[in-house]
Amino acid sequence: MLHFTGLRIAVLNNWSDEYLSCLNNSPTSYFHRQQKTMTQQHQALLAQAEQYDQTDTLAHYQEQFHFPLHNNGEPLRYFCGHSLGLQPKQAMQHVHLAMDIWRFQGIDHQFEGGKPWLKYMQDLNAGMATLVGADTAEVTVMNALTVNLHLLLASFFQPQGQRCKIVIEQGAFPSDRYAVISQLRWHGLDPERDLIEIAPAAGQRHVDEAQVEALLQAQGEQIALVMFPGVQFLTGQFFDLQRITRAAHQAGAMAGFDLAHAAGNLPLQLHDSGADFAAWCSYKYMNGSPGTLGGCFIHARHHGNPELVKLAGWWANAPETRFDMPVDIDWASGADAWQISNPPLLTAAPLIAALAIHNAAGMAALRSKSIALTGYLEQLLNTLLSDHCEIITPADPARRGCQLSMRVKAGTEQGEQLFQQLRNQGFICDWRRPDIMRIAPVPLYNSFADVRDLAVAMRNILVTL
Ligand SMILES: Cc1ncc(COP(=O)(O)O)c(C=O)c1O
Repeated sequence: MLHFTGLRIAVLNNWSDEYLSCLNNSPTSYFHRQQKTMTQQHQALLAQAEQYDQTDTLAHYQEQFHFPLHNNGEPLRYFCGHSLGLQPKQAMQHVHLAMDIWRFQGIDHQFEGGKPWLKYMQDLNAGMATLVGADTAEVTVMNALTVNLHLLLASFFQPQGQRCKIVIEQGAFPSDRYAVISQLRWHGLDPERDLIEIAPAAGQRHVDEAQVEALLQAQGEQIALVMFPGVQFLTGQFFDLQRITRAAHQAGAMAGFDLAHAAGNLPLQLHDSGADFAAWCSYKYMNGSPGTLGGCFIHARHHGNPELVKLAGWWANAPETRFDMPVDIDWASGADAWQISNPPLLTAAPLIAALAIHNAAGMAALRSKSIALTGYLEQLLNTLLSDHCEIITPADPARRGCQLSMRVKAGTEQGEQLFQQLRNQGFICDWRRPDIMRIAPVPLYNSFADVRDLAVAMRNILVTL
């Protein structure tokens, strides 16, 4: 069991005498030597990392990942799990296994052998469903994220008469915006008129769920679909899926979600949220390999509905009769009815390895550590760096996942220098122009010491810029 609740309280409540005394007892680390200029309070805060790491029951998972190497041969400190997760060491073995299955079994591997290909995909669906809080039948693993969004929009964006508008957030990830605009055009609609983008209220940084509710109350009869992120890619804000879904349904609209930055990051209760559909990629917090298969959720209430349009291919046919090649499709049950083509086993192989690690650690334990880890980073940034940067991610842990985004107050040039110098010193973060740095401490492979060292490096760089 993890013991982060207490740690988190300590983090959020600031340092205490206990931590000041812990500083006196702690070994003399590189950073303690470096930080002679820091106040005793700062040093006490830095010293907490060692205690946290000592009680971290997930710490050993770090050994299950490959870290990219710095040019001095040392592993890089990696804070980019929100973009691309690290490679599980077991991934290569699974890829080799897939190659061997193909080599030694040829076509037989589809149905026979220790683990036939079809069984692989069923296991993937089940593993994914566990991670996102859905029934296995509600999840299917296929394609890439934007492709899946299009396939789901083909079913769930069915404009009729004046109910033809799509609602998204302003500042949505470009691929989502392009997807919905092209869907509107596909249906002969005008994106200028039929795409509604909700911007944060004046003076606010985040879109509030109440704004979605207000819009749906005011214009609900014109809205066919609300499509929102789970976690906003730039700010790291976590949206209340259930609340947005409820508002959409009350207005007679569908609700769908892009969970690219939420899946594997926070526990989700997709079934209970009532969402009509969701899609996500598996290469960020799920560490499944670049561009690997994405996940799709279709709520059980839509399964088996003959009225619902689905773009079909032979893999949407029930597995029992697929190879009978029926003239008319015999639909697979559940979300598998949205499949189109036969799945790529080589692409699935690393994802199988990654999901096994994720589910062994468990979303609840990962979330518990994540709250403490991100909370620690937040406290370090607010304490050591508040003159230089401002966190734009919500301060409430319930409204965010791993990621913290911060604005570099000095602007683009200094921000880029910070990013580059961090890279030179072995820290991988992510820079978004004009002035945002995204940092994702990932509980599967980041430690509290990583977070501490990053914050100290940032401070040392920023004071010289
Ligand atoms: C929020 C979000 N949506 C969509 C995408 C596009 O994903 P894909 O290239 O797998 O379609 C990404 C990629 O990073 C993303 O972050």
